[in-house]
Amino acid sequence: MCGIVGYVGHRPALEVVLDGLRKLEYRGYDSAGVAVLDGAGGLTVERKAGRLANLEARLDEVGRDRFAGTSGMGHTRWATHGAPIDRNSHPHRDVTGQLAVVHNGIIENFASLRAELEAAGVEMASDTDTESVAHLVARAFDGVDGSATRGDLTASVQAVCRRLEGAFTLVVTHASEPGRIVAARRSSPLVVGVGDGETFLASDVAAFIEHTRHAVELGQDQVVTITAEGYQVTDFAGEPAEGRPFEVNWDLSAAEKGGHDYFMLKEIEEQPEALANTLRGHFVDGRIVLDEQRMSDQDLRDVDKVFVVACGTAYHSGLVAKYAIEHWTRLPVEAELASEFRYRDPVLDRDTLVVAISQSGETADTLEAVRHAREQKARVLAICNTNGAQIPRESDAVLYTHAGPEIGVAATKTFLAQVAANYLVGLALAQARGTKYPDEVAREFEALSAMPAAVEQVLSTVDQVREIGRELAESKAVLFLGRHVGYPVALEGALKLKELAYMHAEGFAAGELKHGPIALIEPGLPVVVVMPSPKGRAVLHAKLLSNISEIQARGARTIVIAEEGDETVRPIADHLIEIPSVPTLLQPLVATVPMQVLAAEIARSRGYDVDKPRNLAKSVTVE
Ligand code: F6R
Repeated sequence: MCGIVGYVGHRPALEVVLDGLRKLEYRGYDSAGVAVLDGAGGLTVERKAGRLANLEARLDEVGRDRFAGTSGMGHTRWATHGAPIDRNSHPHRDVTGQLAVVHNGIIENFASLRAELEAAGVEMASDTDTESVAHLVARAFDGVDGSATRGDLTASVQAVCRRLEGAFTLVVTHASEPGRIVAARRSSPLVVGVGDGETFLASDVAAFIEHTRHAVELGQDQVVTITAEGYQVTDFAGEPAEGRPFEVNWDLSAAEKGGHDYFMLKEIEEQPEALANTLRGHFVDGRIVLDEQRMSDQDLRDVDKVFVVACGTAYHSGLVAKYAIEHWTRLPVEAELASEFRYRDPVLDRDTLVVAISQSGETADTLEAVRHAREQKARVLAICNTNGAQIPRESDAVLYTHAGPEIGVAATKTFLAQVAANYLVGLALAQARGTKYPDEVAREFEALSAMPAAVEQVLSTVDQVREIGRELAESKAVLFLGRHVGYPVALEGALKLKELAYMHAEGFAAGELKHGPIALIEPGLPVVVVMPSPKGRAVLHAKLLSNISEIQARGARTIVIAEEGDETVRPIADHLIEIPSVPTLLQPLVATVPMQVLAAEIARSRGYDVDKPRNLAKSVTVE
């Protein structure tokens, strides 16, 4: 998830582009870069690792007057392929330095494109998937190999897009076409801003809302060519196409948050995209693949025990991992709080796999657990949302959750992405150990691939959850119950409520209720229950029905999250929240979403800042 800006008009492009990048820095801040066309055949590029401020300092150093010109583009990066260093920063140029490209997304077939270019004698200057696109478009534009697109930037971009797999927004400029910028999109966002004698391109309207409120959303697989006078849209085949025009009626601060009051609410909505991005590119030629693997396939096969270590929300995702990995691989799995694991002298050896889950990749407790595991010769596989962070750097294998930056302190989209990544790890182990046949792995991956749409469906029904949230805002406490994979979901629901609404909240395994916590039930106490599917684990479903009856008989107010069409819960649910029917092990991906919305709405109703809960920090770098 990167931020992209393009501009053709009458103002100095550098300042317009930098302004836009400031608004988009929430989309990534691993590096930033700009390219400006001077109108006389010159293309000036500057890029710098780190936050936008680093780039601005560099521009001051080299002199901003070098960037005269009224067309340009910029990029703020969330690293996926290639470490967050200067040479991997965007824009990327072709070998002549005449053409520049910025990109958001992942080009899945970049390895074969890169090999093709290297075979043709092109020397790569970066480790990114994006650079190949710069060379390919330049070769099409220059007519190398007799290409029919020679001299036509739009046709060159269309031709290259037809060869690309994966998700991308691309913006392309050429020094010989100073009044024209060409962009393309597939499964990554791109909007055009239509001003008076000026036209903008951006990942998000926030980048140009100061200048114009007339926007056009590009459709899937479309190419747009902008000039100062306007824009033209085609499909990848070059046939005329249309974007969706709309008027932006948010103010600037709301625009950065996608029209929401808080980043967290926007991040909740981004969950289908976060899930799809996390799964993308991990099932290749019928096999699950990790992002980085510095251990052999034999090492993976030899694993005889798994520990999942993490903190907070990431730990809850680890609890889900335990159910999935044990079920698919028949390996014993322990999910453990990283802060406890490190200091209790766990039994580890070279056949132990430690799965370390961390959004930030910096959490001190988890990092120390990783170091301890490696000292004991165990192998470590990191699941992380931050490319190049310390935990993945010190691990033997890495799977990145491509959820994009999470600004809200409470984890939402990164939790769902972690859960998805855990499933991928489970399937990778099952594949290595042969406990699942290739066609079974393929079927599980197919089921996973349907989950972004299932989460989308949940999101379309959350207004009812908000209403329940407002009704519960004055409660003193809320309990959460679940069984099997619903248990970690209950723990996560309680954690979200504690940290956002400062309300007493507890999650329990529903079977434990009668062993003590049932004493907490009093008339009117809200209890949120996660029901398993009646089709999947009928025995669990029956047991939970009994648990709900027990608490309802004692006066609790029941809020039941159940599969759509499950009529058995209706009589005992004071509030019923329906979620789509999905395979049992995957249910946390849909059942957690109403919990997040509930906690956010209760917190908002109580007047709290949902993005910055008191006493908390996004990355906890102390033990
Ligand atoms: C809760 C939350 C925290 C983090 C925990 C681990 O909403 O965000 O509980 O999950 O601090 O952080 P990471 O995943 O960065 O290691």
